[in-house]
Formats: sequence, structure tokens, C-alpha cells
Amino acid sequence: MAKTKIAVLTGGGDAPGLNAVIYALTRACIRKFDCELIGYKFGYRGLYHNDFVPLTMETTTGILHKGGTILYSSNKDNLFDYLIEENGVMVKKDVSDFAIANMKKEGVDVLVVLGGDGTLTSARDFARKGVNVIGVPKTIDNDLGSTDQTFGFDSAVNIVTENLGRLHTTTESHHRVMVVEVMGRSAGWIALQSGIAGSADIILIPEIPYNLDKVVKKIKQRDARGKYFTIIVVTEGAKEAGGEAVVGKMVQDSPDPIRYGGIAAKIASDLEKYVEHEIRSCALGHIQRGGDTSAFDRVLSVRYGVAAAKLIAEGKFGNMVCLKDSQMSYVSLENVIGANKQVDPNGELVLAAKDLGISFGD
Ligand code: F6P
Repeated sequence: MAKTKIAVLTGGGDAPGLNAVIYALTRACIRKFDCELIGYKFGYRGLYHNDFVPLTMETTTGILHKGGTILYSSNKDNLFDYLIEENGVMVKKDVSDFAIANMKKEGVDVLVVLGGDGTLTSARDFARKGVNVIGVPKTIDNDLGSTDQTFGFDSAVNIVTENLGRLHTTTESHHRVMVVEVMGRSAGWIALQSGIAGSADIILIPEIPYNLDKVVKKIKQRDARGKYFTIIVVTEGAKEAGGEAVVGKMVQDSPDPIRYGGIAAKIASDLEKYVEHEIRSCALGHIQRGGDTSAFDRVLSVRYGVAAAKLIAEGKFGNMVCLKDSQMSYVSLENVIGANKQVDPNGELVLAAKDLGISFGD
């Protein structure tokens, strides 16, 4: 009997932990059943171009701790709406059947997709077309509602927290106000957790539109206490009450084309009229996704990889592995999409931060 063939791909923005999932999945599958694994390069683009590498004990050795992805990633290539050249012009087409034919040709039995909501939407759509799909929840933003925590989030929080420590010393030395922009799209999880851990004075998140006068008030309160510097952490997708989020860039061939960016610079400029301090802004950007994976994310990713192998062994396709109440579980891909998880403005963590005296600009 032919070996089971498992294909893996990593889609969307990279996140620390992708390699640990690949490592664990490869090892668990090889140990659990007679199988062969391949990895498509650059996410769904590799599936379209049939561009893959073998995943073996040897090709995956030593990658557990490393950030990034040995399979490379792309957050542009939606095969259900794919940009191709036809008769000299670029047109968007549904090329999913072509991709399925590629998998058939290679004898792929199972497709394991590591991604956030854009990548998992396509995973669901391939499952609807009869492909045996397993999803694994990735994103530093932690905004997937169907799992308690995505891998990559803890690493990003650690990176931001460390950088807030660095920004503290220089900000205090100059008696400045520093506005630090962090990732997260429309979810404030990174700002909230790193803001608390990194002793921010003000945390601005998309879920709580801010009032500039409240931000000014907090800075002045600190001045009155002899704390002549202020650290503001702001999520890229945050907005002023009655205002709009600041879009930095549109990536047209991406399933979710909006890239937020620029809110920290806007706040810094808006504040200038109202406070005497020098104000600086700093966008941490892709530093938040780089470097080695945190210990927590390594363990979480290993658990996800092993749980995905278990679902394959049990033939439970069309599901995404998830973390529920500290246990590994799984949920139908049908219920994953659209179930975005945002910070509850009245939730325990926001209230705890407020009890510390942190302002949310509300
Ligand atoms: O979804 C993860 C994320 O890092 C967001 O926080 C951020 O807005 C976006 O990806 C950035 O994407 P890109 O890699 O296209 O700049």
C-alpha cells in the first residue's frame, strides 16, 4: 500500500512558531504512521506552481527554536481569486481546481495549512471541495476566536515588552512622550499585554476609541506627580473617537488588502499642540515577528503540530486544531472564519490595567 502523503504550507504573515509546528508535525507523523511529507513553498503559491520540498527528519532538524518559516510564506496568494496572466493581460481567476489537480498528480492525501484567517478561509474552501484539510492557528495578532491562543502571539508580546523597556530609559532621559505603534490589526491584544508587562502609561486599542484630551490629561497628571515622561502603546488599527484608523498601505492582491500604519506618528503630531514635552513616535513593525520563538510559543506550537498529526491519524479532516481551556482540541474550519476575537473593553485585563492607573484614553 502506498504511503500516506501529507503536504504542509505556511500562509499569511510569518509568525514565530511556524517552524516548531513543522518540526513537531513531521516527527509525530513519521512516528505515528507510514507517511511521506512535503512542504509547499510560499504558501498557496507553491501549491499552484507545484513547488515543494521534502519534509523529513533531516530537512527539519534544528528548526524548533527558529522564527520565520523554512517553507517561506506569502500573504497575497488566494487561489480562489488569483492573479494570472491570460493573453498578455493580468486577470483574477479561481485556480483552485488546478491546485487540486496538482495535489492529485503528486498523490497528496492531506493538506495541513498553518495560517491566520485569510489562509484558513482558503483552507475551508479547499475542504468544501473535498480536500482532506487540517488547519493550525497562527498569528501574532491573537485575533482568531476559535482558539484561546494562536502561536506567535507570546513571542510578539515578549519582543514588544523588551523594546518598551529600552524605550523607557531613553524617553525618561529626555523627559519626552514616546508613542509606540504595535501590530495587531483591529485587535488590541499585543498592545494590551505588552503595555501591562512593559509598564506603559497609556494603552490605545481599536476596541476602545480614544479621546485626545484624555491622553493629554494623563500626561499632565504624570507631570504633576513629577513623572516627566510618558510611554504610550498604540495598536496600529486604533482610532480616535469619531475618527478612522490610519491606513499605511493597500496590498491589492492580498485577501485582506489593508495594512494599517501611521497612527503613532499621527498621535505624536496631534499631541504637540497640547503638551510641552518633545514627542517622538516609533513603529516597531516587523521586528515583532522576527527572531527566535519564545519558550511558551515553542511548546504551544509543538502541541499544535502533534495534535494535527493526531487528527490526521484519526481521519478528522476539515478541522483546525485549537487550544481550549489549556487542552488541545479541534474545531470545524466552517466555524473558524469570521469568529474574530477582540479585547473586551470591560474584560478582566482592561479593568486590571485601569486599576494600575493605565489610561485607555476613554
Ligand atoms: O496579521 C499579522 C500582521 O503582522 C499584522 O499585525 C500586520 O498588520 C500585518 O500582518 C502586516 O503584514 P505585512 O507582512 O504584509 O506587512
